[in-house]
Amino acid sequence: MSKFYITTAIHYVNDDPHIGHMYENVVADVIARHRRRMGDDVWFLTGADEHGQKIERAAAKEGIQPIELADRVVAKHHEMWRKLNISHDDFIRTTEQRHRLGVLELIRRIQERMPDDIYLGEHTGWYCQNEETFVPENQVRDGKDESGHPVEMTTESNYFFKLSRFTEPLLAHYRQNPGFVYPPTRMNEIVSFVEQGLKDLSVSRTSIKWGIPFPGNPDHVVYVWLDALTNYISALGFGSAEHARFDHDWPADIHLVGKDITRFHAVYWPAFLMAAGLPLPKRIVGHGWWLRDNQKISKSLGNVVRPYNIIDEFGADSLRYFLLREMVFGQDQNYSDEAFLGRYNADLANDLGNTLSRTTKMTDTYFGGKTPPTSCPANELLRASEQLVPEYLKAMADLAFQRALDAAWKLLVAVNGYIVNREPWKKFKESGADETLSRILWNTLEAQRIVWVMMAPFMPSTTREALTRLGADPDFINSDALAWGGLPTGAPVRATDAIFPRIDIDAYIKGVPVEEKNEVPAAPAPAAPETPAPSLATPPDSAKISIDQFMEIDLRVAEVRAAERVPKSKKLMKMTVSTGDEERTIVAGIATKYTPEELVGRKIVIVANLQPAKLMGIESNGMVLAASIDGEPSLLSVDAGVPAGTKVK
Ligand code: MSP
Repeated sequence: MSKFYITTAIHYVNDDPHIGHMYENVVADVIARHRRRMGDDVWFLTGADEHGQKIERAAAKEGIQPIELADRVVAKHHEMWRKLNISHDDFIRTTEQRHRLGVLELIRRIQERMPDDIYLGEHTGWYCQNEETFVPENQVRDGKDESGHPVEMTTESNYFFKLSRFTEPLLAHYRQNPGFVYPPTRMNEIVSFVEQGLKDLSVSRTSIKWGIPFPGNPDHVVYVWLDALTNYISALGFGSAEHARFDHDWPADIHLVGKDITRFHAVYWPAFLMAAGLPLPKRIVGHGWWLRDNQKISKSLGNVVRPYNIIDEFGADSLRYFLLREMVFGQDQNYSDEAFLGRYNADLANDLGNTLSRTTKMTDTYFGGKTPPTSCPANELLRASEQLVPEYLKAMADLAFQRALDAAWKLLVAVNGYIVNREPWKKFKESGADETLSRILWNTLEAQRIVWVMMAPFMPSTTREALTRLGADPDFINSDALAWGGLPTGAPVRATDAIFPRIDIDAYIKGVPVEEKNEVPAAPAPAAPETPAPSLATPPDSAKISIDQFMEIDLRVAEVRAAERVPKSKKLMKMTVSTGDEERTIVAGIATKYTPEELVGRKIVIVANLQPAKLMGIESNGMVLAASIDGEPSLLSVDAGVPAGTKVK
């Protein structure tokens, strides 16, 4: 049994988890689950990066202590990893004592081995507060760094790490270990960066309070990256009395990180470790970004995608599958709900789901709900699986998840072709549930069992369900389970409802208001009309609308008669409003700010002639007017005594 230690980056806690974070943890989880079932002794670490200016500022903005913010966001990360079925063995927080001990020990070892490797100096340069790093002169343009974040000329008295001393040792390490950074394009980027020569790195800050005090000089805190990177060893007990796990698991087999932080992991981290005389991680794997409209999804860009509804409605497994199927590992990929829904219907509901229901239903009818009595040791599906399983295993080892899933799909396609060719329904009519039919159906179930065993790391809970339906043991997913012949005969088969019910995509898209769909900040009152109101469209040749166009909008005073929150929605409120002579239902995104009690009896202003729109399945007839302050709605109100139904213009 070989040990396998895999880590994700530890995520900043100034933001709730978004799709980029989800992706990283799902990828690590798929790798960890696969390795475990192949027999490795896996240790999977994830965690939270809690120190530094970003968090200090975000907390100050809310008027709370940084640790309060961290506690709150970490709770959300835990909740998300639970929902996504992430099987990490440990979760490290950089505010924990064990982490602090690890950081102090790392610095102590560096200072002990080579007293000059950390020295006090003065540093002046372009500092990017967003990235918490000094930016090289050649990367600054018009006061901004390469990512467009503002930089400021800053001077600080800092401790420096003699990174320059490691230019050659690092290059030698890359030469001797060409797979140290993966994929190779990323390795090339790192090599050419280091070949330009490394400058010493400032590793302390005086401008920040929220961090680990620098040993021997508490006016400084440890630079956030030196602090954060150490999590990979502090979590194993490095620096504390209980370091058995460190002795067993270090060096890491994979540090899985986004391409934006590959450099910190492939240059700074190995240099720190070399300086401390510790072994280097075996592989830094840099994945691509999830993009929205071709821009990296991130809090600072405000284009965050958090497909929380998708997980709640369609299950974590379908999102896990989508994330790995859609993205060529290492490259960037645009996210859209539409792409998710399309794949769900085509791959999951249709390919996987239909094949399963078709074959289990036939088995149920022809063989009384049991796997057929005669198995089959030689046939074309067996041959297909013997060819595709090695393809799959090779792809998994190469972290080529799309290719791995393709191999599983090829077997599924073969199963469908086999059913079409053999026409089991005809055979049943002709000669009943005889031995030939038994072999045919058993083969279709057995090949699917193997398909599902391949899917196990990707869709762990659906795999259990599917294996149970097929009459297989849901726990039998190890490497032996990938060999032909594992399906018992005469075992109960379950032919029930669709494992992935088909989605009516049009209805779903129309029924989900934009800001509910992805929680992208949007206007507070979700109009989401079925078709955009043509009269409101901006004329092509002018940014202004005419008075006639404005007069087409029927604005009215309305009185709220009843209000209730829309179940499963954080934002939506369903209201019955009166416009004097009639009552109507309006659904509005104001539930984060107003309670039903506050609303009943209140006079508001509505757009009365908007086409109806369905929001979370409820038909909304009109739109409530509200101002939006940082996404927070504030309802427009009218003077007392203005009767409901009065026109507003
Ligand atoms: N705290 C640092 C990492 C320290 S590791 C010692 C950090 N945190 S982060 O929250 O900004 O990012 C965490 C991980 O999520 C990083 O690997 C980052 O690349 C990844 N992603 C953040 N946004 C992403 C996308 N839009 N797409 C895919 N992953 C990206 O960096």
